[in-house]
Amino acid sequence: MTAKQINITYQEFSSIDELNAEDRELAQAAIEGMKGSYAPYSHFNVGAAVRMSNGQIVRGANQENAAFPSGLCAERTAMFAAGAKYPEKDMCSLALVGGVYGRITDEPATPCGACRQVMAQYQAKAGKPISVLMVGAKRIWKFEKVDDILPLIFDSI
Ligand code: THU
Repeated sequence: MTAKQINITYQEFSSIDELNAEDRELAQAAIEGMKGSYAPYSHFNVGAAVRMSNGQIVRGANQENAAFPSGLCAERTAMFAAGAKYPEKDMCSLALVGGVYGRITDEPATPCGACRQVMAQYQAKAGKPISVLMVGAKRIWKFEKVDDILPLIFDSI
């Protein structure tokens, strides 16, 4: 037996002002995207934004439903909208932010497993890394590629 380790490297920023101009714009778009959240059950509002290879930013927000599984997370809302709008373009980066009753959480919002899997698929489609920015009021985390938040990623057989 050999004990193995997986190491993940990411960057931490203390405010969106510390981000480079592109990431700052994406983080702001995710914050703006939160306004589209429809969360009458959890009251947890999530906003997401995806930057495409043509520079366009597509926003998303979580959409809940009385039949709970019919709702969808902000990240997938944004990615599916982006995929549908720009099928010929690649996704380059994604930002997300969350907050109870719209008040941004101090710690960064972290994406659910299903959203990470969908990110992995679009990254494989692009053939290059999609960076992920998790935004909180006190901290922001940046991961350079989806592999960093979904180790041992499932790839198609
Ligand atoms: N949610 C997201 O939008 N993204 C995630 O990655 C995790 C959870 C939403 C789903 C639901 O509307 C609310 O947050 C509470 O779980």
